[in-house]
Amino acid sequence: MIVNTELENKGNLVPSKIINFKKDVDTLYFSTENDVVLQLTVLRDSVLRFRYTTTGTFDNDFSYAITKYASTGYNHLEIEETKTNYVITTKKLICHISKENLGVKIYDAIDNVLINEDETGFHWEESYEYGGDVVKMSKVSKDGESYYGLGDKPSHLNLKGKRFENWATDSYAYGKDTDPIYKSIPFYTGLHNKKAYGIFFDNSFRSFFDFAHERRNVTSFWALGGEMNYYFIYGPKMTEVVESYTDLTGKPHLLPPLWALGFHQCKWSYYPESKVKEVTSKFRDLKIPCDAIYLDIDYMEGFRCFTWNKEHFPDPKRMVKELADDGFKTVAIIDPGIKIDKEYSVFKEALEKDYFCKRADGPYMKGKVWPGECYFPDYTNPEVREWWSGLFKELIEDIGVKGVWNDMNEPAVMEVPNKTFPDDVRHDYDGNPCSHRKAHNIYGMQMARATYQGLKKFAYPKRPFVITRSAYSGTQRYTSTWTGDNVATWEHLWIANVQAQRMAMSGFSFAGSDIGGFAEQPQGELFTRWVQLGIFHPFFRVHSSGDHGDQEPWTFGKEVTDIVRKFIEIRYQLLPYLYTAFWKYVEDGTPILNSLVLYDQDDVQTHYRTDEFVFGDHILACPILEQNAKGRRMYFPIGKWYDIWTDQVINGGREMWVDSDLDSMPIFVKEGAIIPKYPIQQYVGEKKIETVVLDVYYKEGKERSQLFDDAHDGYDYTKGRYSLRTFKLTGKPNELIIQQHKEGKFDADYETFEIKIHGLPFEISEIQVDNVIIPLERIETNGISILRINKEFSELHLIGTI
Ligand code: GLC
Repeated sequence: MIVNTELENKGNLVPSKIINFKKDVDTLYFSTENDVVLQLTVLRDSVLRFRYTTTGTFDNDFSYAITKYASTGYNHLEIEETKTNYVITTKKLICHISKENLGVKIYDAIDNVLINEDETGFHWEESYEYGGDVVKMSKVSKDGESYYGLGDKPSHLNLKGKRFENWATDSYAYGKDTDPIYKSIPFYTGLHNKKAYGIFFDNSFRSFFDFAHERRNVTSFWALGGEMNYYFIYGPKMTEVVESYTDLTGKPHLLPPLWALGFHQCKWSYYPESKVKEVTSKFRDLKIPCDAIYLDIDYMEGFRCFTWNKEHFPDPKRMVKELADDGFKTVAIIDPGIKIDKEYSVFKEALEKDYFCKRADGPYMKGKVWPGECYFPDYTNPEVREWWSGLFKELIEDIGVKGVWNDMNEPAVMEVPNKTFPDDVRHDYDGNPCSHRKAHNIYGMQMARATYQGLKKFAYPKRPFVITRSAYSGTQRYTSTWTGDNVATWEHLWIANVQAQRMAMSGFSFAGSDIGGFAEQPQGELFTRWVQLGIFHPFFRVHSSGDHGDQEPWTFGKEVTDIVRKFIEIRYQLLPYLYTAFWKYVEDGTPILNSLVLYDQDDVQTHYRTDEFVFGDHILACPILEQNAKGRRMYFPIGKWYDIWTDQVINGGREMWVDSDLDSMPIFVKEGAIIPKYPIQQYVGEKKIETVVLDVYYKEGKERSQLFDDAHDGYDYTKGRYSLRTFKLTGKPNELIIQQHKEGKFDADYETFEIKIHGLPFEISEIQVDNVIIPLERIETNGISILRINKEFSELHLIGTI
């Protein structure tokens, strides 16, 4: 065997000087003497794509992450050649490419401030073992620069000083700083000088990010194969960066059905049928709202996907219908491993059609998962995805299951050291055949995509609902997600909070954790605190491994049951608010959870905060993360905030102690906000909504709020049958004006808004609706004025005496 080859000792290689430049509409090519080509595409004024080859030619350009719906187009593009650089100017950016070595420097076109610059920039090592290159990029990291993003990393929100790896991994009972875990989202946001930019390294090979960890002034990222291919996304606001990244990799194709934003109860596993019914009946008896009940792997026959254990579930269709009659939507798990069993139709068909993954030399990829030895569909083959989607017919269309939960799709393999497929497994990669090294990180995404296609087809005219454990950038287009097998500890409550925020700033808002912890059993106090946090997570599900005892809201005694009910009720009241935030996420890519740094990046106090977050536009929440706590210190962003429990107004821009016994949690509303609320329901659609409450928080000044509504399921909203109400609040010392503007063709059932005004500094002496004085009919309790008016008002005007 030859070991000490010249190749092995070559080390890092770098581009040499530019010898050729070519422009093709929005794409520029810079070629160097040593065959490196930089292909720079101007996607938008604020989005540049950098793609490098070291051989003079590029491979087929294909990505699972980038959506065909991404917005493109710029207002301005100018290229200038100086002695030392090529200078590309758009409306937002100025980019210098050094003629000497392809080094990149990017400036803000408006004020000429340097945003980001290459250190060594692009460099590479030839891959001795696999061919191709290990592709690398290094950038200068400035003092005071902060970094955020990267999906599900269970680490401090600010990534500075740390190194991470992206390789989707089944990580039972992971802990703080375990890396990597289930997802691979190679996107981060850098923040320096009040300016935020994003880098999306669209490379599905095992990749690494080093945020000034190895060298204090260098941030770098690299991958063990593929291309150096990254997108530079400018803000300068962090929210804009996240929105642009989400636009590029895709917003959810559809709104979820409203019930999917309700409360979900899950366990490994509820069976037989009588157990499922016992749990669902108890929710109704105890009047704890719940919309979804889950069937984990034990509903199947020997863990064979798309089968039922007839002993435990003799008539699934009847059961699912009875559950539906009681307001419960059934969600069933489907894993990728297909049991090797010649009598099993799914196995037989996939074998016949040659849909299973194979090893490099021809044998099938065989691995152990729950059913024992399995083969695995190659979801990277479009024909396999089509077949897979068809398998859902019975489950969804005939039996009536409403959602599908995809698990173990990293893909996880048991009893092998690397927990997954070996590197040599072959994949179609949509006609770009490759090894598992390249397909690993997108395998789960393609499975979830195929599942989504199945649900879309067979749930029609209802909306699909899918959950996945593994994900790559772009997976948010198809599915929701959870953070995998966490543990019932206080540290994991901290992790769950950070992960949900981090997912949101990584373009994937529809996320949540196993509430209460998957492994081990929480005490009532921890469970309560976790539900309190969970009401703010778009995906809101209790899940646990059954061998650690029960974990239903009533498991921990009456006090806990009552508090948990109270918080789940708050979630149900806030459904129109959350649905509106979700609509904004689907429409503009706006994250539903906003870490304080996203909320106010100019306030440096926010750069290292982890616990507080803003839910939607206007609600500030901060979970209690310690045992026996009767409150906590928290940071209030600049502005004024109403305590939802007392209406006390807090002046932000400082840290403060907040009392919060077990039955409470620090929750605040931004002044000027209008928060829409539904009545409490045991499940979505239980009641006809007769009145929507608008909680109005007085402000001296102006604020804007919105309320989106539609049929809560189905596709009509995509054809204009939705209603979007925009409320403009203007408060003066003795006046309050609320103007309403309505868009869309949907007319909700309710006719009336119940307007509850908090913090009004004056006595109301006159009320005008659309310039007509109406009788002073209002109730006044605890300083809150309540009035009822027709939902179609254009202007509500309260005049008072101070
Ligand atoms: C995995 C999942 C977990 C599920 C279990 C059994 O551990 O992460 O949520 O309950 O498998 O299906």
